[in-house]
Amino acid sequence: MIITKVNASTPYNVYIGKGLIDSFDLSPYAGKEDAVRKAAIITDEIVSPLYLYRVIKLFKKNGFEVCSCSFEGGEEHKTLDTVGKLLSFLSMHQLTRTDVVVALGGGIVGDVVGFAASVYLRGLDFIQIPTTLLAAVDSSVGGKTGVNFEGLKNQVGCFHQPSAVICDVDTFSTLPPARFSEGISEVIKYGVISSPEIFTMLENRTPIEEIVAKCVSIKALFVEGDEYDKGERQMLNFGHTVGHAIEKLSHGTVSHGNAVAVGMVVMTASAACLGYCTDDFSLRLSALLKKYNLPVSTDYTAADIAEAVLHDKKRSSDKVTLVLPEKLGKCILVPYKVDELAGLLGKGLSSSAEKK
Ligand code: GLY
Repeated sequence: MIITKVNASTPYNVYIGKGLIDSFDLSPYAGKEDAVRKAAIITDEIVSPLYLYRVIKLFKKNGFEVCSCSFEGGEEHKTLDTVGKLLSFLSMHQLTRTDVVVALGGGIVGDVVGFAASVYLRGLDFIQIPTTLLAAVDSSVGGKTGVNFEGLKNQVGCFHQPSAVICDVDTFSTLPPARFSEGISEVIKYGVISSPEIFTMLENRTPIEEIVAKCVSIKALFVEGDEYDKGERQMLNFGHTVGHAIEKLSHGTVSHGNAVAVGMVVMTASAACLGYCTDDFSLRLSALLKKYNLPVSTDYTAADIAEAVLHDKKRSSDKVTLVLPEKLGKCILVPYKVDELAGLLGKGLSSSAEKK
């Protein structure tokens, strides 16, 4: 097992290994002898038949009193309505401030359950058990929780750090290949923003737990340096401004990982057009994405994407902060005028289409 510490305002460990959902020692998180701690284990309807029983067994074995529920997954259920139902569930089972909420599943489960945990009784401890690669390397770490609101992604939420993240990489074995590749898109992102070594690890097919640990250690540094996302942490949004726009334009039919893959290619090509980086880096990025069957182009126009970016959370007044690569492993944040964005994206889109 690999343990990575995240020194956020409330520090916690991320445990990465095999077989953890059956054998992890939860004693550091269990109640004192005289006070049994309740664990509300919450998942979605896809993960429930796969892993819920085993996770319930693990918590019971470690002395917790357990209640559990599952909700319908998918972006369309990442809503305040779902949060309301989860709050009713926590209330019905009389969870108190000494109890713990457990989010078992992918990024949507983690975000929604984390948000419910953050507001119930003004904040309960929660433990993330990510079961997708994407959640393991990104959303389960760093404390961002929330839901979509009025058609806008993650528009309502708060920062609430987990007490622990328990990542059992064996759970990735039940992911459809496309879902696994979605996670690889975020892994590649870490390579571009911080670590050329990740490209080598992927090219050499390094064991996935080592890749997850490397990504988590990078994310930990960004979170420690800028927990509330005011500066450097925005690097983690490389490819996401265009990616979120594509997700929105497609009404969710293009997955997050696929949209981010296209976003990374477009931003890299745009950076090359602005003279920040060279074309050969953009070719290496596209080749690696294609190796994992990730898309490198889109049919949406630059104008469509720029219009959708108007609603991006990362926009402030008339500017949006772009994450532009200078070379593999190094990006910079560039505030860019929203009304000039369509022009830049147009150049990026046509340059990336030429190299397809
Ligand atoms: N997913 C980007 C972040 O946690 O900041």
